[in-house]
Amino acid sequence: MTWQKVADLSGLPENGLVRLTTSSGEILLIRMGEKLFATQLNCTHESDDLSGGALEEGKLVCGFHYATFDPATGEALGHPDGGGTATALRTYAVRAENGEVLVDA
Ligand code: FES
Repeated sequence: MTWQKVADLSGLPENGLVRLTTSSGEILLIRMGEKLFATQLNCTHESDDLSGGALEEGKLVCGFHYATFDPATGEALGHPDGGGTATALRTYAVRAENGEVLVDA
């Protein structure tokens, strides 16, 4: 794992989900105001791209079957609609420094 620049902080939405590429592969960067989180890109239910999801009441919601996750820990908080299960997402350390967003991935 290596700290690497993945984005300029000013280029990110205030509250949103961004699909980014690191040297280890694609990740999901989550910005909630001043807070930044990073997780694996694909949902643990049926591998949907989580950048097509949403943030609702502090939770990451998959856009496909609406499983919910804790952005900070990756913990699965709610099961998908229609059955099945979602397990925890892999998370990555992330920080902002001098206007740049760095991820340990
Ligand atoms: S693919 Fe995410 S909830 Fe089904």
